Amino acid sequence: MYDVYEIRKDFPVLGELINGKPNVFLDSGASAQKPLSVIRRMNDIYSHEYANVHRGSYHLSELITSDYEKARQTVQKFLNAKSEKEIVFTRSATEAINLVAATWGRKNLKPGDEILISEAEHHANLVPWQALRDETGCTLKVFKIADDGSFIRDEFLKQLNDKTKLVAVTGMSNVLGTIFPIREITQEAHNRGALVLIDACQYVVHQKADVQEIDCDFLAFSGHKTYGPSGIGVLYGKYHILDSMPPYQYGGDMVAHVTYEKTTFDEPPARFEAGTPAIVEAIGLSEALEYMMKLGIDNITAHEQELTEYAAWELSKIDGLKIVGTAKNKGGVFSFAVDGIHAQDMAFILDKEGVSVRTGHHCAEPLVNRMGYSSLARATFGLYTTKEDIDALVKAIRKAKTFF
Ligand code: ALA
Repeated sequence: MYDVYEIRKDFPVLGELINGKPNVFLDSGASAQKPLSVIRRMNDIYSHEYANVHRGSYHLSELITSDYEKARQTVQKFLNAKSEKEIVFTRSATEAINLVAATWGRKNLKPGDEILISEAEHHANLVPWQALRDETGCTLKVFKIADDGSFIRDEFLKQLNDKTKLVAVTGMSNVLGTIFPIREITQEAHNRGALVLIDACQYVVHQKADVQEIDCDFLAFSGHKTYGPSGIGVLYGKYHILDSMPPYQYGGDMVAHVTYEKTTFDEPPARFEAGTPAIVEAIGLSEALEYMMKLGIDNITAHEQELTEYAAWELSKIDGLKIVGTAKNKGGVFSFAVDGIHAQDMAFILDKEGVSVRTGHHCAEPLVNRMGYSSLARATFGLYTTKEDIDALVKAIRKAKTFF
């Protein structure tokens, strides 16, 4: 039984007051709160177990190396990857995508080749491809989504062709909440000989991601949205593809042999983890993923789906409020605009009521503009969100309306 009120006890900050009001934290899409198990584990490592990894033949170094590599296995289990060698620790999802652009992209793309993304991407899955286009002379294409934020199969297929070398799409939009059919997209792309990268920053927080089932070639996500620490992200890549890619950064821990004249490089994933990695963060992330798996990803999805339906209904009752992103297949992300109230003013008033929402373009400026806005308020849900949180949001929005 999924007892959200019990679960909330694992997140001390949720029980504290914000501006004298109960904490209604609705910005988990930007960064989620951390359960005590993550906080304690990281504290324990710094207190009792800390050393560098892969370098020492003494007790502490061996202990932490083993925990760091176990963390990789936990990510493997979380994504159902074939091997832990397919899991690269990065600084963030952004770095994971930049890594693919800088290594696979520079090596394989030339003028005439095409990269295909959707209109629903956030900057992390757009700007690296623009930079790669400018560097290699390849073409960057963008397929359209519907006005309600839905994926349109025909628009995708219209842009996909034999020149497409990479399809890079979000699994779930951080602005609209739309869940993309990533398995179908991958199949279609593979039929045309293109590789597929899934930006799963939001997706893995809310949905089970099985990389063998999806069959994507790359998948990126970040630790801080999956209830883990910041400063850690993950790149999943099929092993034979990772193995064909040159290093991303150069330095210690990614080399096989070094002389003054020449260096040979290690195999993946070490090849892509130059320097001392974010050791404690990787272990903290694995603790967070264990926490999610213990609750059950399907249970989290079901809980959030109920909230999503509830929020859609409750918000739709507010006069002058428009939800931006109403696709049928959507998760707990509600960007909204209220007639006559700037998103920034809205957020300011909500904050006074203890309700935290994000405002602006949500690191997805072209998407927000495409939907007809320059700034939106956005409420996002997590595994600890309650119906009472949504009631408090609705009440605070109604209060904000009385000021204008
Ligand atoms: N991309 C993150 C968000 O949606 C930061 O807020």
